[in-house]
Amino acid sequence: MEVANPRYTAGEIEEKEIDRIPDMKGNVKEVMNIEGMVVPLGMIRSGHIPDMRENVKKIRHMKCRDDDIFLCAYMRSGTHWVWEITNMLTTGKLEYLTRPKEAAMLEFNYPEEFDEIPSRRTLNTHLPIRLLPTEVKDKKLKVIFVQRNPKDVIVSSYHFLKKAKMTPFEGTFEEYFTIFTTLGILVNWFDYTLEAEEAVKGRELDIHVIYYEELKKDPIPAIKSLSEFLGTACDDTFIAKIAELCSFKGMEKASENVKEMEKFMFESDLMKAHYRKGEIGDWKNMMTVAQSEHFDEVFADRMKNSSFKFDFSE
Ligand code: A3P
Repeated sequence: MEVANPRYTAGEIEEKEIDRIPDMKGNVKEVMNIEGMVVPLGMIRSGHIPDMRENVKKIRHMKCRDDDIFLCAYMRSGTHWVWEITNMLTTGKLEYLTRPKEAAMLEFNYPEEFDEIPSRRTLNTHLPIRLLPTEVKDKKLKVIFVQRNPKDVIVSSYHFLKKAKMTPFEGTFEEYFTIFTTLGILVNWFDYTLEAEEAVKGRELDIHVIYYEELKKDPIPAIKSLSEFLGTACDDTFIAKIAELCSFKGMEKASENVKEMEKFMFESDLMKAHYRKGEIGDWKNMMTVAQSEHFDEVFADRMKNSSFKFDFSE
């Protein structure tokens, strides 16, 4: 679907670059394989994000500042939440940034567009860890990795992508569930998470892991430990205030009243839809018992060697 006011112009797409895969309804879906990610052609053609073929290269060679922070998460895992918390910690101010998270998102901008962001920058991405700038490893920059139980990620991303204009998901939840557990959205959740776990274990990157559920159940210790990781000195009162400002209700309100979405034209209605429920265990309202059991089987198999522990319920 065409979206008004494209921000970028996509380069020529050659026939040989296009893969055609069947969608759930037997129709043909056009995608491109970019560095192992399955990218719908519509995402590139729309011009609302930079041409990803070019941008993954630019991102790899991007010049980073010595104090840059990289926030990584699979989509719908709590990226906005942790981004806002991190910015309050680094600025030392109990204020929401007027800049939306999307303006600091690697795949939604070209690296040079981040030059205007004052230090200390917290850049964020849903790209796999291997696609981070090489300087992240070379300069041992701080990486925050946010995790959320994947059943809630399925439900949250389904609702979100139903509303997306650029590449909307038009099928049923059943169909979405099958795609999520097989191909994945750009990248399969299991592949993404296991790759991140390798990076955590390998110790080549300086990574701090945050679980959505821990942050939700007990925000103060989770924010405190993030602050220690980042070396942002602050007292308990300050941290308690961040937890309050960054509660679901607080962030939902800020998204309406504070964020300058007009300046950043990426589907502003959709951006406001980021705050849906903000709960743990909403998957129980959507998944059938059969789907849940099937997911458990896939999870047990794919994650059998993983030490990550997920909290699926309230
Ligand atoms: P739901 O769709 O389950 O409500 P991301 O920022 O990575 O896109 O993740 C979006 C998810 O995080 C949405 O989940 C959103 O509601 C939730 N979220 C955002 N801010 C939150 C907060 N302050 N507390 C709890 N959940 C939050």
